[in-house]
Amino acid sequence: MRRKLVVGNWKLHGSRATNAALLSGLAAGRPYACEMAVCVPFPYLHDVADAWRGSELMWGAQDCSAHEQGAYTGEVAAAMLSEFGCRYAIVGHSERRQFHHESDQLVADKAKAALAKGVTPIVCVGESLAQREAGATEEVVKRQLSAVIHTLGHCAGEMVVAYEPVWAIGTGRTASPEQAQAVHALLRAQLQAASGHAERIRILYGGSVKPDNAQALFAQPDIDGGLIGGASLNADHFIAICRAAG
Ligand code: 13P
Repeated sequence: MRRKLVVGNWKLHGSRATNAALLSGLAAGRPYACEMAVCVPFPYLHDVADAWRGSELMWGAQDCSAHEQGAYTGEVAAAMLSEFGCRYAIVGHSERRQFHHESDQLVADKAKAALAKGVTPIVCVGESLAQREAGATEEVVKRQLSAVIHTLGHCAGEMVVAYEPVWAIGTGRTASPEQAQAVHALLRAQLQAASGHAERIRILYGGSVKPDNAQALFAQPDIDGGLIGGASLNADHFIAICRAAG
């Protein structure tokens, strides 16, 4: 039985003052039946660790370098994330694939670097609207996931996968529970064929998840929680989404 996981992706939002209120609001909503985590901009990791250390709430980063150390200006290594108590690192978010031209192989290398330091990668895959309309959804998400499966090898069972259709991110246009479930089932079958451990790998859905649509999405057999953007910035909304996860 997979325990549901709900992760907030703050993206490029926040300030120390607003974060403090959000973090204490989320802590006040405990206990949660699901696992809850927030992935925050790097400079705020210390504050999250201070606020939540010793609780069951978890945190992480939104990216992770593929390199261990060296002359890579601006990069942040997995070992550094680990020092700040990060449980998770999002890798391969569509905004990084799009705006930072991250390739499938780079995303896979980042996932491997994270795992090597005990940080669980949340590997994002998802098709654009044009790709969906061209009937290429399956081919695209399988290609993206395949690079990670091959690079992680026998450790593939340790990752978390997030299906985030690009056309549903920040648009208010959510995939229907059936549309999302269909892709999640494909991804699980691919993970099963490759790793044999698909039953324990959590596959999250992301893209305009809100309090009013979360329950129907999370009720699908292969949707194991959510990766939440906009709604994770509001404590009441994020708590409601976590409650919808059971
Ligand atoms: P929204 O929930 O704002 O659509 O963002 C989804 C997302 O990209 C989470 O990583």
